[in-house]
Amino acid sequence: MADRARLGVLISGRGSNMAALLYASRAADCPFALALVASNDPDAAGLTLAAAEGIATFALSHRGMARADFDARIDAALREAGVTHVALAGYMRLLSPEFVERWAGRMVNIHPSLLPAYKGLHTHERALAAGDSHGGCSVHLVTAELDDGPVLGQTPVAILPGDTAETLAARVLIAEHQLYPRILADWVRAGQPADDPLSRVRELSLALPEAREKLSHGAPGFFVEGGKFFAYFSADHHGNGITAVLVRTSGVEEQAMLIERDPALYYRPPYLGPSGWIGVRLDTGDTDWAHVGEWLARSWRLAAPKRLTRLMDVADAF
Ligand code: GAR
Repeated sequence: MADRARLGVLISGRGSNMAALLYASRAADCPFALALVASNDPDAAGLTLAAAEGIATFALSHRGMARADFDARIDAALREAGVTHVALAGYMRLLSPEFVERWAGRMVNIHPSLLPAYKGLHTHERALAAGDSHGGCSVHLVTAELDDGPVLGQTPVAILPGDTAETLAARVLIAEHQLYPRILADWVRAGQPADDPLSRVRELSLALPEAREKLSHGAPGFFVEGGKFFAYFSADHHGNGITAVLVRTSGVEEQAMLIERDPALYYRPPYLGPSGWIGVRLDTGDTDWAHVGEWLARSWRLAAPKRLTRLMDVADAF
């Protein structure tokens, strides 16, 4: 499995949704793990549970603090814990625009209504007063507007005769505990492919004109239709522990020069090395994907048939 997403969960109280996420994350195939539980209320019951389960916690009262300053402290704690995704779980604080922007596309919330109905507070009272047949819960991406981001999943919950806000809330909560971990897992999984090195190499390679993919000696290779291979993805080749993309250089001299200049980034790949290919490492921890894209484009040119490069040279002349 790809590395698990590192989830930061923000709570303000009981934390039962946090607990649902925590216990879901105990499954071996769950794509997220809780890296931090943070609260704006140091007395939040959920903090005690998280700590007892061995999860790092952070608590800071928001009282007397400007919203942006408080959020900056939460943000710092999340970053320090290496959090990659944020889940709001009964977090009863409006977020500053800076914080929302900082975690855009990587922050979700659970809300106890079938959005877009009943944003804000007292959702169950309002559903009952309106005579609705169902209440329910929604998981949505967090955007600047309160309870307004794209909905990722919902569960309707039937309203029973005699329901009060409390009895309805209790049943909706059961649905929340089922919905949140499932939607979060799907969402995290859906976001993963773009982050792993092979997917990114694939995306950059197949964006080049008439580029195709084909396995070559068990490794994903990329070639130009009617031309030659311009890239191979290499992961732990013969147990060398290296993740890299192999691309063409102009020849062994350029290859040697590159390796001398930056031996942490470049290496001479076995088998292809004698013909001037170079390995560009993708496991340095700070891969410059724009640079990888330039390498792929250049290698593509060296591998493409004349009919394609001629067209490009003409275009470049303008
Ligand atoms: C949950 O019902 C959650 O949907 C709601 O607060 C409760 C928190 O319970 N959230 C909101 O109303 C957000 N606007 P929990 O602390 O036990 O998870």
